[in-house]
Amino acid sequence: SNEELTDRINAVRRKQGSRLMILGHHYQQDEVIAQSDLRGDSYQLSKMAADSGDCRHIVFCGVHFMAETADILANRPEKIAARDGHRVDVILPDMAAGCSMADMAAIDQVENAWEDLGELIDTNDITPVTYINSAASLKSFVGRHGGIVCTSSNAASVLKWAFARTSRVLFFPDQHLGRNTAQTMGIPNDQMPVWNPYDLEFGGNTAEAIRNSKVILWKGHCSVHQMFKKEHVAAFRRDYPGIQILVHPECMQEVNEIADVSGSTGKIIETVRNAPAGTKWAIGTELHLVNRLKQEHPEQEIHFLSPVVCMCATMYRIDLAHLCWSLENLDAGTPVNVVRVDDETSQWSRTALERMLSVT
Ligand code: 13P
Ligand code: SF4
Repeated sequence: SNEELTDRINAVRRKQGSRLMILGHHYQQDEVIAQSDLRGDSYQLSKMAADSGDCRHIVFCGVHFMAETADILANRPEKIAARDGHRVDVILPDMAAGCSMADMAAIDQVENAWEDLGELIDTNDITPVTYINSAASLKSFVGRHGGIVCTSSNAASVLKWAFARTSRVLFFPDQHLGRNTAQTMGIPNDQMPVWNPYDLEFGGNTAEAIRNSKVILWKGHCSVHQMFKKEHVAAFRRDYPGIQILVHPECMQEVNEIADVSGSTGKIIETVRNAPAGTKWAIGTELHLVNRLKQEHPEQEIHFLSPVVCMCATMYRIDLAHLCWSLENLDAGTPVNVVRVDDETSQWSRTALERMLSVT
């Protein structure tokens, strides 16, 4: 039962004390969030891992790319030295908790695209930008090519940094975050061709479109956020006069541009928290977060933007049973599901992540 699992989890937490840090992303289930020492959006969680003091284990209740990022940042050489040579083991309670968007860009596809782009334009004048929702190998690619990582909360500052460096950006894997952010900077869609890695002819573009481009977007998306449609926005505005539409920037441009507010999960939470009682919201992001906001803000009227369930099936894989199993194993000195990025990948990824941390 959940009660029994909670007791067992608490027993390990008491015993491990400050050697153990449990991090939880806002999309996690309530009972998992209740067991997290700290919760946050992708940016906040990467900062927490980077700042992790003297702990020995981070159990990451989130998805694989987040655990990789935590490993890279928590195990910076100066951090290891400060811990007298001890590494932090980052543990993902279920290794099947991936991210379908992150899987839409593979390192060989990005390397091929870079090579193909080099036939048309000078790659020294392109900054590669990877959304944090990507494998460490892509962060490493970006680090090696003068590029940078972004999250949904700092994408605009990161793009500004990139445009101060070069006149073009290659943005992967989420076309929507890239397009929505560039749109706020005044870049028109006809300067944002989409690169389809499965189309061998310049990603499905003409040479002219690539030469004209400012931002080359990757053909990737979040299957959860693409479920929110502009018809849903219209229906809420019709049926609930005065309602505010609040969405995550992984939503499509046609939804994002008509919303009242767009932002990371951290910003969504803060926006609701700062609104007066009686405010009406329709929120377009993962279901567990929207349901939690409903519970935490009974003084406001909160609706889920889509009539169908949009939940992240991989985030949902982390449950109390997997959390308990991974905690008891680390407590027994036989840690399971340790996510460890190899040294070379880690070094270049860290360069790209540190650029992000210094910009935002
Ligand atoms: P944020 O945590 O940056 O809001 O991103 C949401 C998300 O989809 C994480 O995978
Ligand atoms: Fe990936 Fe979308 Fe799930 Fe976030 S919500 S982890 S982007 S699939």
